[in-house]
Amino acid sequence: MIDLHSHILPNMDDGSKSVEMSYKMLELLAQQGVDTVVATPHFYPTKDTPEAFLSRRQAAFEKLQPLPEHFPKVLLGAEVAYFEGIGDCEQLRELQIGQTGLILVEMPFRDWSGRMIRELERLALGLGLTPVLAHVDRYLGSNQLPKYQHQLLDRGIALQYNADAFLKMGHRRYLLNLVKQGHNCYLGSDAHNLTTRAPRMEEACRYITQKMGTDARDLFDEY
Ligand SMILES: [Fe+2]
Repeated sequence: MIDLHSHILPNMDDGSKSVEMSYKMLELLAQQGVDTVVATPHFYPTKDTPEAFLSRRQAAFEKLQPLPEHFPKVLLGAEVAYFEGIGDCEQLRELQIGQTGLILVEMPFRDWSGRMIRELERLALGLGLTPVLAHVDRYLGSNQLPKYQHQLLDRGIALQYNADAFLKMGHRRYLLNLVKQGHNCYLGSDAHNLTTRAPRMEEACRYITQKMGTDARDLFDEY
């Protein structure tokens, strides 16, 4: 199972605070059946340059080496905050997830527009990258996802769900319905720590499998 969204690299952002914490998070992910985890530290284009970000990310990744054999394989990526001009930014290729052509994009919490969706489409058409919208479950309260869902899916923009969204009352029926429609979708822990935002991949998969009658691992994309 792949965890497409995590903050497991030490001291990169508001995620893991130390190598020790990163190891404990990776240990938990291994216990939850995750065999590949994508490290997606926040990238804010107004605060950071891709060059500086990539060198910090590499240094943080190296601090974790060598990883014990039973740990999930760690792929490098980024959670790129949406910005104007994202659709034409060549440097984003360097922030894709490994060499998969997927790029995890964090949208603003409100006020999406058709123009923004077209920018995301340009990422695919111009740069050959498939945008994956991070934690789409968070845009249900503000109604942005329901409003733009068809435009996104028609344009081949993929969705990433946070595992713990399936473990809370509220929107999970809506999310299950979306998964059922069989669009490109990914599951991620969005784990930041070991307490308030610990990984809950296995629990979420168990719930989804039970509700859908299909093994959750078959419902989400691998790459
Ligand atoms: Fe995140």
